[in-house]
Amino acid sequence: MIFEMGILSARKVGVLLALFWMGALCYFWLPNHIPDFLDLRSKSSVRSRHDVLPRLDNSGPVANQIRMQQLNLSSGHNVTGVIHVCITSDGNTLGGMVALINSIVRNTKHHVKFHLVTDEDSVNHLGDWIKSSPLREIDYEVKGFPESWVSGKIRIRGGRLELGSPLNYARYYLPRLFPNLKEKIVFIDDDCIVQGDIMELYNTEIKGGDLAAFSEDCKGMNKRLSRLANVYAEFLDFKNKHVQERNISPTACSFNTGVFVTDLANWHKENITGQLEYWMELNTREEVYGNEQGGGGSQPPMMLVFYNRISPIDSMWHVRFLGWTSGTSYSKSFISHAKLLHWNGKFKPWGRVAQHSDVWDRYFLSDPSGKFKPIRRG
Ligand SMILES: *[C@@H]1O[C@H](CO)[C@@H](O)[C@H](O)[C@H]1NC(C)=O
Ligand SMILES: *[C@@H]1O[C@H](CO)[C@@H](O)[C@H](O)[C@H]1NC(C)=O
Ligand SMILES: *[C@@H]1O[C@H](CO)[C@@H](O)[C@H](O)[C@H]1NC(C)=O
Repeated sequence: MIFEMGILSARKVGVLLALFWMGALCYFWLPNHIPDFLDLRSKSSVRSRHDVLPRLDNSGPVANQIRMQQLNLSSGHNVTGVIHVCITSDGNTLGGMVALINSIVRNTKHHVKFHLVTDEDSVNHLGDWIKSSPLREIDYEVKGFPESWVSGKIRIRGGRLELGSPLNYARYYLPRLFPNLKEKIVFIDDDCIVQGDIMELYNTEIKGGDLAAFSEDCKGMNKRLSRLANVYAEFLDFKNKHVQERNISPTACSFNTGVFVTDLANWHKENITGQLEYWMELNTREEVYGNEQGGGGSQPPMMLVFYNRISPIDSMWHVRFLGWTSGTSYSKSFISHAKLLHWNGKFKPWGRVAQHSDVWDRYFLSDPSGKFKPIRRG
């Protein structure tokens, strides 16, 4: 009798083990097939010049001509002049910003002007870092973000408190931070690396009536990722009457606010900053954002303001969710074809465990002050 029981439970254990392995296989196998779901049209144009920094010429007739052309840029036309890129980062993650800048300049021949924003205490740190590195030749400006602009307007209910960092909201204030900029701009989160020519992203078309280009989180995603937070209902409280008045479909696809292309003249004209502040402030008094499972922070007001007015970004130009798991969810070959990688989520490429952090390491430039150090084993 005892012997029989032993055999039975051994069988049960065997069945459980088999089920576990099947589950694990599905989990790891599926994501490697993401390329099948995505658009690989521009595969062959991926190039990287890891050893050449572009030479920038800021003076003379050519530069003047570029400046003239720049005055006539609008969202409908492709660039012939300067590409404007904005990156924001708080003092703790400046290493992310530096690696991202380096990845952009090493993969383009075009003139990029960087508009960098960090907390007021970190402006000098960032400046010293850039000046003591091969990036000293880039065209850039650094602004300290006045935290008073958002103080009293941020409220995080539970969840990830780091999402309440004031710098997360700097993206709401682009025209106020850069009042002289009236043209197109690309915004990129500091946990990204660019492997393609940034000009392609800058030339993303913003269709008539749309306010910006973003990547939506439903289309072209594989099953495992798409069952994660990806509809408006996960980010907003549809019981709130102000939310209801916006006539938003709760099942509308959400989008990632970490990478976008927009036109600052239009942003100003449409009072986007004012609208974002309105929702932000309202959320301190009433529940607007729901349970914030999906991330909360700076995302929900953007979803309210940009609803139904976004153009798409090429899927290879925003390969994301790298920070959602510590394990590898993309194959090496897929990653090598991606134009932009985004480690959104908990596992940052400068942390102890992150997938494909070797790609990020290629672009990181060490901090002369020694304050920022990626955590690496051994
Ligand atoms: C701006 O560019 C458009 C399209 O290239 C052209 O039609 C227009 O004349 C230009 N405007 C100015 C002021 O140069
Ligand atoms: C802009 O450039 C993209 C590729 O970078 C191209 O597909 C598109 O047709 C161009 N648009 C115009 C208006 O030239
Ligand atoms: C911008 O929008 C906010 C919120 O809706 C509003 O209070 C403010 O008056 C608007 N500003 C302008 C200049 O229209």
